[in-house]
Amino acid sequence: MKSRRYQVKKEVEKVIQQGHPWVFKSHLSSAANIFKTGDCLALVNASNEVFGYGLFEKDALIAIRLLKAGKTPPSAEWFKSKLKKILSRRENIKKFTEGYRALHGENDGIPGVVFDVYGKIGVLQTYTPSVDPIGRYLAWVLRKELQLESVVWKAPSRRKKEIVSRLLYGKQPKPESIREGKLKIAVDVGEGQKSGAFLDLRGLRKFLSLQNLKGKRVLNLFSYTGTLGLAAEVAGAQEIWNVDISKGALKFSEQFHSLDKKKFRYVAADVFSWVESLPPQEKFDVIIVDPPSMASETKQISVALKAYSRVYKRVLPHLKPKGMMIVCCCTSRITRQQFNEVAKKSFSTSLRKMKSLPPEDDHPVGFPQGDYLKLLVFTD
Ligand SMILES: C[S@@+](CC[C@H](N)C(=O)[O-])C[C@H]1O[C@@H](n2cnc3c(N)ncnc32)[C@H](O)[C@@H]1O
Repeated sequence: MKSRRYQVKKEVEKVIQQGHPWVFKSHLSSAANIFKTGDCLALVNASNEVFGYGLFEKDALIAIRLLKAGKTPPSAEWFKSKLKKILSRRENIKKFTEGYRALHGENDGIPGVVFDVYGKIGVLQTYTPSVDPIGRYLAWVLRKELQLESVVWKAPSRRKKEIVSRLLYGKQPKPESIREGKLKIAVDVGEGQKSGAFLDLRGLRKFLSLQNLKGKRVLNLFSYTGTLGLAAEVAGAQEIWNVDISKGALKFSEQFHSLDKKKFRYVAADVFSWVESLPPQEKFDVIIVDPPSMASETKQISVALKAYSRVYKRVLPHLKPKGMMIVCCCTSRITRQQFNEVAKKSFSTSLRKMKSLPPEDDHPVGFPQGDYLKLLVFTD
């Protein structure tokens, strides 16, 4: 890869040497004005030595994403051997499921590039323009390595206006089912959220499907396509309510994620107002609250946390004694500590035990901003 030298400030070298993968715009010197988006920069320290390589993004909050540490520039061989190492960490997961994240961006040391696999389908997502070429190159390598039949380049929600999702290889995939332990999960790569499904909730699905929920009632709030409801059904649940604002997601749940339709109730509603009118006699053994991120900017954190705790307060009286409350938070803007505090405070009167479910091996957490998903289970 061709690169342009850029001497960084001392503090930038320090944070990068400590393992942080980003340089913020506010830390750039005026010498960076000449670079354009996508330029590969050889990062130079005060002694004029190259100590890493990064991709430049003009006019963005994150100005440089570290691609490789050290003196030598990234080469095709370097990418291939890095990919091999990353894929070797997915071997155990592949025994359990056909759906996994092959590449998890910065957390795997490949900035801004996510690549999900659903059986023979690969889905590339690139989070910012500077990483598009690398993403496409890696998709090509992964297609061969994993013998994929189709590869789609899908715009993440924040880039929907900027890039059009398109087929990079093979035939346009139709909704497809993948095996995940005891579950069969349907995935719609084209229309589904994220790359087609919430792969990151696998650990929670596994946890739920291993519970003894025989005869139990489950309230699944922000259910999306109801894969958590399916996991509860497999664990023996007798009645499951899936509540989501998206009618399409509920239709998909009904079509694909139930073994016995009679056990399910589907409610299309805004959860925040729906919980206010839930009749007091409706009690559940398990309540799941998995709201959307709601805090993509720091200033939204307190509003999101207030909305979370309002829902928790409303649903807690609907939990039966000895019940289980599962709460999720899917934004790194809200720290683990902030989330734990809000959840603990909301449930402290009746639910004393708190368990945190760890991320799965294909969703490693490589740096603080990579720690986006928090899953807490409260029992008494
Ligand atoms: C993080 S996803 C939930 C994923 C889901 N738990 C699963 O198992 O796949 C958040 C969901 O909240 C839904 N949503 C967003 N705002 C909502 C609202 N105000 N009321 C109800 N659902 C909402 C979205 O449609 C989306 O399906």
